Amino acid sequence: MQNFIFQNPVKLIFGKGQLEQLKVEIPRYGKKVLLVYGGGSIKRTGLYDQVIAILNEIGAQVFELAGVEPNPRVSTARKGVDICKREGIEFILAVGGGSVIDCSKLIAAGAKYDGDPWDIVIKKAVAKEALPFGTVLTLAATGSEMNAGSVITNWETKEKYGWGSPVTFPKFSILDPVYTFTVPRDQTIYGIVDMMSHVLEHYFHLEENTDFQDRMCESLLLTVMETAPKLLEDLENYEHRKTILYCGTMALNGILNMGYRGDWATHNLEHAVSAVYDIPHGGGLAILFPHWMEHTLHVKPERFKQLAVRVFGVNPEGKTAEEVGLEGIRKLREFWNQIGAPSRLADYDIDDSNIDLMADRAMANGEFGNFKKLNRDDCLAIYRASL
Ligand code: NZQ
Ligand code: ZN
Repeated sequence: MQNFIFQNPVKLIFGKGQLEQLKVEIPRYGKKVLLVYGGGSIKRTGLYDQVIAILNEIGAQVFELAGVEPNPRVSTARKGVDICKREGIEFILAVGGGSVIDCSKLIAAGAKYDGDPWDIVIKKAVAKEALPFGTVLTLAATGSEMNAGSVITNWETKEKYGWGSPVTFPKFSILDPVYTFTVPRDQTIYGIVDMMSHVLEHYFHLEENTDFQDRMCESLLLTVMETAPKLLEDLENYEHRKTILYCGTMALNGILNMGYRGDWATHNLEHAVSAVYDIPHGGGLAILFPHWMEHTLHVKPERFKQLAVRVFGVNPEGKTAEEVGLEGIRKLREFWNQIGAPSRLADYDIDDSNIDLMADRAMANGEFGNFKKLNRDDCLAIYRASL
């Protein structure tokens, strides 16, 4: 375990009926509110009306940015920045999934920056200030509600990159499991894969003495794997939605990975795929992660063995660490297949025609991955194995 400083300033407001807390939280920041949301799910579910009623009750002057895309576009963030600058917005309220929240983070930072918000995404500029913003989360997946990260796509150039800044933590996030009841089955599955992948990204590191962190990671994986099949049988089950929602937040809010850095190569590989093909992030991860694991098993087979034994119940007797590790990877793949996640790029009609472009995008900042550094040949090998 290395030295670390941990600070997560997000006020987490969790549970049924907590939307009411908007009345307490928003007036701390101002009256001019930009409400940011996606393609209409919050209108269909009635959440939009509830939010508007509260904003009216507290006398907020409401501006709206609707239509944030899954895999949010910089073009949409630019529209939000224009509204903020033109209208003197004091607070941004993001209501939706990770895409709406990520887009709002760029709007918040872009509103305090003179140039093009894309500069911040490509790290040509550093976000030093941001408008305050809060979130009402409607989909358990990314953890964006309690971290400072944001992932933005430039559809014109087919690029998708993550960025983040200490100024882009939400001031608060409201998580009511009831608002996740309507998440369709496929998006529920993608969310489950995404949160498990975040834990797996943490898990593969080269640091010593992380016993407690390892067990926290394993505990989260076991909890999600126990709950996911039950939830998928009963999508409106409050208890199961609650567990999954809490796990999604805990998987990527910094608590599991104090004192070490996880790998994060698979996320980079996936962002390159969804930059070119606009596929759901969790779907891409379900395809790529087991192949990344097979590709890097040799680096530290003991780590794969520990995961296989403790999380996937593999019996290690009479087997090498590699054999046990491979069995664990097979069980992970089986689990994701059983719950209905995709397993091949062909499931999204992706063939090898853009494999070079995807590798270029993944390599945009050079070799990557902290457990194993991947070069272009590694990227191509993993993409080919995933076809
Ligand atoms: O747009 P609407 O109409 O709201 O519909 C959305 C969207 O179509 C729908 N949805 C959300 N809540 C719903 C609902 N439908 C019915 N009922 C509800 N309650 O679900 C669809 C997907 O939403 P999206 O926000 O795109 O999903 P997710 O939360 O998985 O976010 C994915 C994005 O986050 C990035 C991904 O790369 C991707 O761009 N990530 C962000 C991270 C972060 N900021 O920390 C980390 C992640 O690893 C990830 O890369
Ligand atoms: Zn992810």
